[in-house]
Amino acid sequence: MPADLTPLHHDLTFMSPLSEQRADRLARFVAAGLSEPGALVVDIGCGWGELLLRTLAAAPTARGLGLDLDAEAVAHGTATAAARGLADRVELVAGDAKEHLPDAVDAVICIGASQIWGPAVEEKQPLDYAGALAAIRALVSPGARVVFGDAIWSQEPTAQATAPLTGRPDEFVPLARLVELAVDARFAPVRVHEANQDEWDEFETGFSAAYAHWLATHPTDHPDAQAVRDRARAQREGYFSGYRGYFGMAYLELLAV
Ligand SMILES: C[S@@+](CC[C@H](N)C(=O)[O-])C[C@H]1O[C@@H](n2cnc3c(N)ncnc32)[C@H](O)[C@@H]1O
Repeated sequence: MPADLTPLHHDLTFMSPLSEQRADRLARFVAAGLSEPGALVVDIGCGWGELLLRTLAAAPTARGLGLDLDAEAVAHGTATAAARGLADRVELVAGDAKEHLPDAVDAVICIGASQIWGPAVEEKQPLDYAGALAAIRALVSPGARVVFGDAIWSQEPTAQATAPLTGRPDEFVPLARLVELAVDARFAPVRVHEANQDEWDEFETGFSAAYAHWLATHPTDHPDAQAVRDRARAQREGYFSGYRGYFGMAYLELLAV
């Protein structure tokens, strides 16, 4: 892919299907547990840290740590934190989250990043929700607030729905199973919700908008043009003719017990 594609944060507010309204709700849930001065919230797989920064804005004496492999996203988040006057309360670190996690924290945000503790995405294995939930639970004490979000099947997947992903129906679980896995990991669910179709359409089209921007600003016979068109088509068909309506995103507001 050409290096001059616009970064994802150009077209997306979050790197997940998440509306402003749902994000506010999640940020307020976590912030309510951070009233102790200096309380620490970690966002594991934070992307550019938008939800972490909103949480800190709602918790004026808390500190935040965001961890993500994506150095470009982390740099963008660090600049955003400075622009919002949050630089002295937040640190965003580029690297493998497992190598930078503190031993204990007061609250956790982890959205779309369970793969951190499981097999690499390229191995095309079922998502290891239980491993992720256990690792998160080990970081917090009873009463701590955790927002855990990850992919689920919104309905029984068809072969067309699984094909653009790993091809396996057991890659994800339904919402009911995920809630039970959270309970098994010693969490009590406070609220459970799922991204709606508008959030998914906004996310999926925002995810591929960089291809549209690139194609609109380069000649059609540019050496990279066919590769960009192919990538855009694969993304478009995978979603609109494949997993749209099947691939879901669950958000769990949890208390450690
Ligand atoms: C679906 S994105 C979600 C980002 C963010 N939580 C959000 O909702 O906007 C998953 C993120 O996990 C990050 N990630 C994957 N493996 C990681 C690892 N081992 N350590 C840190 N971050 C990782 C990716 O770089 C990516 O930014």
